[in-house]
Formats: sequence, C-alpha cells, structure tokens
Amino acid sequence: MSTMNIAVLAGDGIGPEVVAESIKVLKAVSTVYGCKFQFNEAIVGAEAIFKTGNPLPDETLDICKKSDAVLFGAIGDPYFDNNPEAKVRPEQGLLKLRKELGLFANLRPVKIFDKVAENSPIKKEILAGTDMVIYRELISGIYFGEKFTDNEEGYAYDICKYNRTEIERIAHLAFQAAQKRSKKVTLIDKANVLDTSRLWRKICQEIAKEYADVTLEYIFVDNAAMQMILNPRQFDIILTENMFGDIISDEASVIGGSIGLMPSASVGEQNAMFEPIHGSYPQAKGKGIANPIASILSAAMMLDHLDWDTAARNIEKAVEKAIESGIVTQDLNTDKVHSTKEVGDFIASFILDTEKNSYYNYENIKIGKSTIV
Ligand code: IPM
Ligand code: MG
Repeated sequence: MSTMNIAVLAGDGIGPEVVAESIKVLKAVSTVYGCKFQFNEAIVGAEAIFKTGNPLPDETLDICKKSDAVLFGAIGDPYFDNNPEAKVRPEQGLLKLRKELGLFANLRPVKIFDKVAENSPIKKEILAGTDMVIYRELISGIYFGEKFTDNEEGYAYDICKYNRTEIERIAHLAFQAAQKRSKKVTLIDKANVLDTSRLWRKICQEIAKEYADVTLEYIFVDNAAMQMILNPRQFDIILTENMFGDIISDEASVIGGSIGLMPSASVGEQNAMFEPIHGSYPQAKGKGIANPIASILSAAMMLDHLDWDTAARNIEKAVEKAIESGIVTQDLNTDKVHSTKEVGDFIASFILDTEKNSYYNYENIKIGKSTIV
C-alpha cells in the first residue's frame, strides 16, 4: 500500500494545537486500517512572516504541491489585524496557497449533532434535520480582483470579477453533489444588484439543463442570511461565490452549534486541502481550550478524498461519541469542560478500540492519563 504524503501546515494561533489532535487521530486510523501517512510539516502565515518575511515560503508551497493532501490549521495574528497598514499579512499566505494549488471549490458541510442542538441559541425544532453542504467558490471574485489603496486621499477599491470557467467548474461539482443528495441546488447571489451575480445565474441556468433531475433555486444573499436562521432545513446544496460563501458559512456554523465543529475541504484538479472553517482564535492560543473537532472532521474529509471512506466514517462515529458523552471543550459545554488534548485522546482511543469501539476509561481522562499521550 502506498504511503500518503500529507503536508501539515499548522499555522497560527490555535492551529498547531488542533492539528496535533488530528494527527493523533490519523495515527490511530493508521494503526487500525493500515493506511500509511508521511507527515511533512511546513510553515505558513504569521509564523512564516516572522521567520522569513513571506507568509507562504516557496519551500512550503513546494511541499504542498507534491503532497497527496494538505492538512491546514488556522491563520491570522492580532499583530497584523491591529495594523491595517501592514503590507504583508498572514492571510495572504492562505489565499496564495488556495490560488497556487487551484483549489476552486470549498465544501463546507453543516450538520446537526443532537446533543449540541440542545445548547444552541436557535430553537431545537428549527434546527432538527438540517443537513446542507455549502459549495463556496474559493479562488476568484472580490478576494482576488484588483485592489488599490491610496491612503493619502483616503480611497480604496476591490474589484469583484468572475468568468465563465470559474463559475462552470464549481457549478458542475455542486450539481453532481445534488444528484447524490436531495436533488436541489440553491444559488446564493445578489443578482438584483451585481453583474457578477447575473452572470452566475445565467451560467447556472445553462448548466442546470444538463442535470434534468436537479432543481435550481435562487435566493438573494441578504434573504439567505435571514432564511438560514428562520428555516435552515430548506437548504441542501448551496452554491455561491467567494465572499458570500465566507459570510454565509460562518452564519451556518451557528446552526451546527459551534464554529469549532465545522470542517471543510478545498479541492482543485490536482490538489486538495482540508481545514477547519474557524480562524486562529489567538486569545485561546496555548490554553488547551480550542475545540479540535473541526480539524479532526477535516481530517475525515481528507480520508474520504483519499478513498479511505471506512476510516472517515469511523472518525465521524468517534466524534459523535465524544459529543454524546460530553467529552467536549468549553464552546459546547461550560459545566464540565475538557481540554483540546482530552477530546483528541478520546476520539483516538475510540478509534483504536476496534473491539468494543465504545470503551472509554473516563477516569483516566479525568486525571490526564488517557491511553494515548
Ligand atoms: C475562511 C477564512 C479566510 C477567508 C480568511 C482567514 C482569509 O475566513 O476560510 O473562511 O476569508 O476565506
Ligand atoms: Mg471565513
């Protein structure tokens, strides 16, 4: 069996802590299922700027290009957030990486864990049964259009551009996904105002003809933001451009209970990258309070991509078990809080224990002596 080369870009803030738990879980998967991973670590973001002046050093990009998949942590640092005049920013590293690897489609599944729904700020009956996947275009639009700032005059702009190919390639993925699910694609746009949105509608209407079994619906982004909270069950496959996808997916994460639960996969023709949707949460850095589940579920999406579906399902099962058993971080449970590492330990132990798959020595975790250290 060939070894999978995984580029590990832990990044900033809580990135290294959550990625460490994913690697622990992948090692457990490796023991049980025999899949072999070679983890190649590389620097990115603020750490890379401080060390090399470049948020995406060539060496890092090279490691990613040669990998079978990239496991990404988080990016961003208050040092740069608080300094709008900084010319080099950590986020540029992530954006360049997405662009260079051609990761045009960002898939963000939103699913409800029953136990979490009980603590949601949204009513349980509204959440029940929600199950959607957001297909966010990732390497074009306003993020990548021409930018300009004239600080003297106090004048700046960012241009939003799309072309046919950029829309078509992700639209096809969304329609294909819809064929395997509830046969509906909802395009989120602002076609009442934006030319780019009208182009999206036109091209999606053409593509819809190739997928006779799939219904295409449209919704303006402002209304979508409202509907997402009023009635999230109406959505199944959401297709949208870069910026709207960024915003709507953070909103959708509230439905999922915590942004700390939301994984994502970014795919292109050659490469793929897996990262939680959350940011670097710098206030939590080093405190062991960050939820590792979004990263661990991103690792599960990576296994799906590498055709290790059984292992991926088992990670999901282990995550569900952790949530059901209350082995969760403070974002999900403020009564009995577990650390980042304890949550990772639980999930890895569950996977390793193939015999019972349910054994868990709660006492061990409590005193910090879990089976995997
Ligand atoms: C995301 C993040 C990034 C984005 C940032 C960190 C550049 O918010 O992946 O959603 O805006 O795409
Ligand atoms: Mg975002």
